[in-house]
Amino acid sequence: MFRSPQKPFIAPSRNESFADMIWRKRAASASYADHAVEELSGECPEGLHMEPIIKTVNLTKSYGKSRGIEDVNLSVNRGDIFGFLGPNGAGKSTTIRTLLDFIRPTSGSASIFGLDCQKDSVQIKKRIGYIPGDFGLYGNMSGWKFLEYFGKVRGGYDAEDARAYAARLDIRLDRKMKEYSRGMRQKVAIIQAFMNNPDLIIMDEPTNGLDPLVQQTFMDMIREKAAEGTTIFMSSHVLSDVEKVCNRVAIIKGGRIATEEKVEDLRKKAGNVVRVKFAEEVDPAAFAMPGVSPVRQNGYLKMTVTDNMESVLGEISRHKVADISIHQMTLEEIFMHYYEGGK
Ligand SMILES: Nc1ncnc2c1ncn2[C@@H]1O[C@H](COP(=O)(O)OP(=O)(O)OP(=O)(O)O)[C@@H](O)[C@H]1O
Ligand SMILES: [Mg+2]
Repeated sequence: MFRSPQKPFIAPSRNESFADMIWRKRAASASYADHAVEELSGECPEGLHMEPIIKTVNLTKSYGKSRGIEDVNLSVNRGDIFGFLGPNGAGKSTTIRTLLDFIRPTSGSASIFGLDCQKDSVQIKKRIGYIPGDFGLYGNMSGWKFLEYFGKVRGGYDAEDARAYAARLDIRLDRKMKEYSRGMRQKVAIIQAFMNNPDLIIMDEPTNGLDPLVQQTFMDMIREKAAEGTTIFMSSHVLSDVEKVCNRVAIIKGGRIATEEKVEDLRKKAGNVVRVKFAEEVDPAAFAMPGVSPVRQNGYLKMTVTDNMESVLGEISRHKVADISIHQMTLEEIFMHYYEGGK
């Protein structure tokens, strides 16, 4: 007799964000669904095992002599809202273009849905929505024509779906693409990527050009799509956007992946920031110990502390203190830590 498996419970973490909550609930129901099917059939059927949706192995692209990306290894799982971060020129667009087979890698490999990004690119594109970073002009096409055109590439489009998104993003689709402002074009690009229920949405800096109100709506749209089971992969410079919606992040720097982690784990690993103003002259070298990086800042000594907090506090207490504050690193501070070269 079929015995219903017990629905798993994954405990919420402290200060859980909305993105973490969605991820936690989805993780619980995904493993519940997988487990239930296993119980019924005795084995995990094809397609339900946790094969990554996007996988790159040592993906490398050099543009002649100049570096593009080097040995990029990424693994994006079903249901992830994956943030791909990095400074200008780091290699985000190069990685994304290689995934979509717009450019060919110099070496390494990439797959989406277990299919080869080069050989099976047509098949892959039918199941994904894509927003390019440098969204071109399709001059005389109206918004509608543009959606129809991309719909065909994607194996059809749902006019009702497009209409609903257009209303939500407050954009008229009967105007010509060349008449749209930058933000308006970005809205059409978003509709194009979200319509037709894709299994995966890949976006290169999608919030570019959107005003703050539309950004909110867009973040809601991402959360809703993810809750429906769509996997999201997005590059961004806007750290707060990533913090709001993503459950996993990879940071790329100088063409190489600097870190890839669950946002939750990144937060856990975060140290504290101690800002202290001494009433006497204190040599920062006194705080040069493992896990502590002291810098002078506007009359304060600012220290990122990931280890040896007791020693730091001990050292501080040996001096006369005028002002002190301690706070846990924000996600933005963690990102900056990686951007600036620290680990
Ligand atoms: N067509 C090209 N020819 C030569 N070099 C290129 C080309 N496209 C990109 N590059 C180089 O590859 C590296 C990565 O560029 P890429 O566009 O992937 O960066 P990015 O992370 O998307 O940056 P941004 O945040 O500015 O969009 C850069 O050093 C860039 O100069
Ligand atoms: Mg780019």
